[in-house]
Amino acid sequence: MELEAAIRTRRSQHRLIDPAPSDEEFVDLLGWAATAPDHGHLRPWRWILVRGDSRTALGAALASGAADAEAVRREARKPLRAPLLATLVLVPQRNHRVPDWEQLAASSAMVNSLMLLLHDRGFGSMWRTGPSVDSAGARLLLRLAPHERIIGWLYVGTPDPTRRTVPRTPVAVGHRVSRFTPPPETVPGRMHEARGLTSPVP
Ligand SMILES: Cc1cc2nc3c(=O)[nH]c(=O)nc-3n(C[C@H](O)[C@H](O)[C@H](O)COP(=O)(O)O)c2cc1C
Repeated sequence: MELEAAIRTRRSQHRLIDPAPSDEEFVDLLGWAATAPDHGHLRPWRWILVRGDSRTALGAALASGAADAEAVRREARKPLRAPLLATLVLVPQRNHRVPDWEQLAASSAMVNSLMLLLHDRGFGSMWRTGPSVDSAGARLLLRLAPHERIIGWLYVGTPDPTRRTVPRTPVAVGHRVSRFTPPPETVPGRMHEARGLTSPVP
Protein backbone atom coordinates (compact mmCIF):
# COMPACT_ATOMS: atom_id res chain seq x y z
CA MET A 1 0.00 0.00 0.00
CA GLU A 2 1.30 3.45 -0.85
CA LEU A 3 1.82 5.77 2.10
CA GLU A 4 -0.86 8.23 1.00
CA ALA A 5 -3.38 5.41 0.56
CA ALA A 6 -2.47 4.08 4.01
CA ILE A 7 -3.05 7.49 5.58
CA ARG A 8 -6.31 7.93 3.68
CA THR A 9 -7.75 4.56 4.62
CA ARG A 10 -6.55 4.07 8.20
CA ARG A 11 -9.32 4.44 10.74
CA SER A 12 -9.23 3.76 14.46
CA GLN A 13 -11.01 0.46 14.89
CA HIS A 14 -13.47 0.19 17.76
CA ARG A 15 -14.16 -3.51 17.14
CA LEU A 16 -11.22 -5.80 16.64
CA ILE A 17 -11.19 -9.55 16.26
CA ASP A 18 -8.60 -12.32 15.81
CA PRO A 19 -5.98 -12.53 14.51
CA ALA A 20 -3.66 -9.97 16.02
CA PRO A 21 -0.02 -9.78 15.01
CA SER A 22 2.23 -12.25 16.78
CA ASP A 23 4.82 -10.95 19.23
CA GLU A 24 7.45 -11.40 16.51
CA GLU A 25 5.44 -9.46 13.93
CA PHE A 26 4.72 -6.71 16.44
CA VAL A 27 8.43 -6.36 17.20
CA ASP A 28 9.25 -6.44 13.50
CA LEU A 29 6.85 -3.57 12.73
CA LEU A 30 7.96 -1.69 15.83
CA GLY A 31 11.54 -1.79 14.59
CA TRP A 32 10.41 0.31 11.64
CA ALA A 33 8.08 2.51 13.67
CA ALA A 34 11.01 3.31 15.95
CA THR A 35 12.71 5.08 13.05
CA ALA A 36 10.26 7.98 13.57
CA PRO A 37 11.86 11.31 14.55
CA ASP A 38 13.37 10.93 18.01
CA HIS A 39 15.71 13.61 19.39
CA GLY A 40 18.78 11.85 20.73
CA HIS A 41 17.43 8.46 19.61
CA LEU A 42 16.36 7.83 23.19
CA ARG A 43 13.42 5.52 22.37
CA PRO A 44 11.98 6.62 25.72
CA TRP A 45 9.27 3.98 25.79
CA ARG A 46 8.56 0.29 26.07
CA TRP A 47 5.59 -1.90 25.21
CA ILE A 48 3.93 -4.57 27.33
CA LEU A 49 1.86 -6.97 25.24
CA VAL A 50 -1.25 -8.36 26.93
CA ARG A 51 -3.09 -11.27 25.31
CA GLY A 52 -5.49 -14.09 26.10
CA ASP A 53 -6.25 -14.70 29.78
CA SER A 54 -3.72 -12.07 30.79
CA ARG A 55 -6.29 -9.53 29.60
CA THR A 56 -8.70 -10.81 32.24
CA ALA A 57 -6.07 -10.32 34.94
CA LEU A 58 -5.48 -6.79 33.71
CA GLY A 59 -9.24 -6.15 33.63
CA ALA A 60 -9.50 -7.25 37.25
CA ALA A 61 -6.69 -4.86 38.17
CA LEU A 62 -8.40 -2.00 36.36
CA ALA A 63 -11.70 -2.83 38.06
CA SER A 64 -10.11 -2.84 41.51
CA GLY A 65 -10.34 0.93 41.69
CA ALA A 66 -13.91 1.19 40.33
CA ALA A 67 -16.52 3.06 42.33
CA ASP A 68 -19.56 0.78 41.87
CA ALA A 69 -20.62 -2.60 40.50
CA GLU A 70 -21.43 -1.21 37.07
CA ALA A 71 -17.99 0.42 36.81
CA VAL A 72 -16.35 -2.83 37.94
CA ARG A 73 -18.05 -4.69 35.09
CA ARG A 74 -17.15 -1.98 32.57
CA GLU A 75 -13.48 -1.72 33.55
CA ALA A 76 -13.04 -5.50 33.73
CA ARG A 77 -14.26 -5.91 30.17
CA LYS A 78 -12.15 -3.16 28.59
CA PRO A 79 -9.01 -5.24 27.85
CA LEU A 80 -11.21 -7.82 26.10
CA ARG A 81 -12.11 -5.42 23.31
CA ALA A 82 -9.22 -6.69 21.16
CA PRO A 83 -7.11 -9.84 21.00
CA LEU A 84 -3.99 -7.81 21.72
CA LEU A 85 -3.77 -4.96 24.16
CA ALA A 86 -0.38 -3.33 23.68
CA THR A 87 0.44 -1.14 26.64
CA LEU A 88 2.63 1.82 25.80
CA VAL A 89 4.82 2.89 28.69
CA LEU A 90 6.68 6.19 28.58
CA VAL A 91 10.12 5.71 30.11
CA PRO A 92 11.43 9.26 30.27
CA GLN A 93 15.10 9.91 30.71
CA ARG A 94 15.08 12.56 33.40
CA ASN A 95 17.59 15.41 33.54
CA HIS A 96 18.49 14.73 29.92
CA ARG A 97 19.27 17.54 27.48
CA VAL A 98 16.20 16.34 25.55
CA PRO A 99 13.29 17.53 27.71
CA ASP A 100 10.36 15.37 28.72
CA TRP A 101 7.98 16.97 26.23
CA GLU A 102 10.25 16.08 23.32
CA GLN A 103 10.45 12.52 24.57
CA LEU A 104 6.66 12.38 24.63
CA ALA A 105 6.56 13.86 21.11
CA ALA A 106 9.00 11.19 19.86
CA SER A 107 6.87 8.48 21.43
CA SER A 108 3.74 9.82 19.72
CA ALA A 109 5.53 9.89 16.35
CA MET A 110 6.48 6.25 16.86
CA VAL A 111 2.88 5.26 17.62
CA ASN A 112 1.54 6.95 14.51
CA SER A 113 4.05 5.09 12.34
CA LEU A 114 3.22 1.82 14.08
CA MET A 115 -0.52 2.28 13.51
CA LEU A 116 0.08 2.93 9.81
CA LEU A 117 2.34 -0.11 9.53
CA LEU A 118 -0.25 -2.29 11.27
CA HIS A 119 -2.88 -0.97 8.88
CA ASP A 120 -0.63 -1.72 5.92
CA ARG A 121 -0.41 -5.35 7.11
CA GLY A 122 -4.21 -5.59 7.34
CA PHE A 123 -4.45 -5.11 11.09
CA GLY A 124 -6.53 -2.49 12.87
CA SER A 125 -5.71 -0.55 15.99
CA MET A 126 -7.00 2.13 18.28
CA TRP A 127 -5.12 4.29 20.77
CA ARG A 128 -7.09 4.70 23.96
CA THR A 129 -6.32 6.27 27.31
CA GLY A 130 -8.73 7.54 29.99
CA PRO A 131 -8.28 7.32 33.78
CA SER A 132 -7.23 3.66 33.44
CA VAL A 133 -3.73 4.75 32.37
CA ASP A 134 -3.16 5.89 35.93
CA SER A 135 -4.76 2.84 37.55
CA ALA A 136 -2.76 1.86 40.63
CA GLY A 137 -3.84 -1.75 40.17
CA ALA A 138 -2.61 -1.86 36.56
CA ARG A 139 0.67 -0.16 37.46
CA LEU A 140 1.28 -2.75 40.15
CA LEU A 141 0.30 -5.70 37.96
CA LEU A 142 2.44 -4.53 35.04
CA ARG A 143 5.32 -3.76 37.40
CA LEU A 144 5.83 -0.16 36.37
CA ALA A 145 8.73 1.72 37.90
CA PRO A 146 7.82 4.98 39.68
CA HIS A 147 9.11 7.17 36.84
CA GLU A 148 7.25 5.20 34.16
CA ARG A 149 3.82 6.15 32.88
CA ILE A 150 1.26 4.39 30.74
CA ILE A 151 0.46 6.77 27.87
CA GLY A 152 -1.70 4.48 25.83
CA TRP A 153 -3.55 1.25 25.46
CA LEU A 154 -3.15 0.30 21.83
CA TYR A 155 -5.95 -2.10 20.97
CA VAL A 156 -4.78 -4.29 18.10
CA GLY A 157 -6.38 -7.00 16.01
CA THR A 158 -8.20 -7.47 12.73
CA PRO A 159 -10.93 -5.00 11.82
CA ASP A 160 -14.41 -6.53 12.08
CA PRO A 161 -15.34 -7.10 8.39
CA THR A 162 -19.04 -6.63 9.14
CA ARG A 163 -18.40 -3.04 10.17
CA ARG A 164 -18.33 -0.44 7.43
CA THR A 165 -15.42 1.95 7.62
CA VAL A 166 -16.43 5.49 6.77
CA PRO A 167 -14.12 6.89 4.08
CA ARG A 168 -11.89 9.68 5.32
CA THR A 169 -11.89 13.19 3.94
CA PRO A 170 -8.98 15.59 4.37
CA VAL A 171 -9.17 17.97 7.32
CA ALA A 172 -9.67 21.65 6.44
CA VAL A 173 -6.46 23.09 7.86
CA GLY A 174 -5.81 26.21 5.78
CA HIS A 175 -6.68 28.52 8.68
CA ARG A 176 -4.09 26.77 10.83
CA VAL A 177 -1.24 27.70 8.52
CA SER A 178 0.20 31.18 8.18
CA ARG A 179 3.18 32.64 6.46
CA PHE A 180 5.55 34.81 8.45
CA THR A 181 6.41 38.18 6.95
CA PRO A 182 9.05 40.10 8.86
CA PRO A 183 8.31 43.77 9.68
CA PRO A 184 10.18 46.02 7.18
CA GLU A 185 12.34 47.59 9.88
CA THR A 186 13.92 44.19 10.50
CA VAL A 187 14.82 43.57 6.87
CA PRO A 188 18.17 45.03 5.72
CA GLY A 189 17.65 47.34 2.74
CA ARG A 190 13.97 48.03 3.58
CA MET A 191 14.57 50.13 6.71
CA HIS A 192 13.34 53.31 4.91
CA GLU A 193 9.87 51.75 4.48
CA ALA A 194 9.52 51.31 8.23
CA ARG A 195 10.01 55.06 8.83
CA GLY A 196 6.79 55.78 6.96
CA LEU A 197 4.68 53.48 9.11
CA THR A 198 1.87 55.05 11.09
CA SER A 199 0.35 51.89 12.51
CA PRO A 200 1.93 48.81 14.11
CA VAL A 201 2.87 46.02 11.79
CA PRO A 202 0.29 43.27 12.27
C1 LIG B 1 -3.22 10.00 23.21
C2 LIG B 1 -4.58 9.61 22.69
C3 LIG B 1 -5.53 9.08 23.54
C4 LIG B 1 -6.79 8.72 23.09
N1 LIG B 1 -7.70 8.17 23.95
C5 LIG B 1 -8.93 7.80 23.51
C6 LIG B 1 -9.85 7.18 24.37
O1 LIG B 1 -9.57 6.91 25.53
N2 LIG B 1 -11.08 6.87 23.88
C7 LIG B 1 -11.43 7.14 22.58
O2 LIG B 1 -12.56 6.85 22.19
N3 LIG B 1 -10.54 7.72 21.73
C8 LIG B 1 -9.31 8.05 22.15
N4 LIG B 1 -8.41 8.63 21.30
C9 LIG B 1 -8.83 8.94 19.92
C10 LIG B 1 -8.78 7.73 19.01
O3 LIG B 1 -7.56 7.03 19.16
C11 LIG B 1 -8.91 8.15 17.54
O4 LIG B 1 -7.90 9.02 17.18
C12 LIG B 1 -10.25 8.82 17.28
O5 LIG B 1 -11.27 7.92 17.57
C13 LIG B 1 -10.36 9.26 15.80
O6 LIG B 1 -10.36 8.14 14.96
P1 LIG B 1 -9.44 8.08 13.66
O7 LIG B 1 -8.04 7.71 14.16
O8 LIG B 1 -10.07 7.02 12.81
O9 LIG B 1 -9.44 9.42 13.03
C14 LIG B 1 -7.13 8.94 21.73
C15 LIG B 1 -6.16 9.46 20.86
C16 LIG B 1 -4.91 9.79 21.32
C17 LIG B 1 -3.87 10.35 20.38
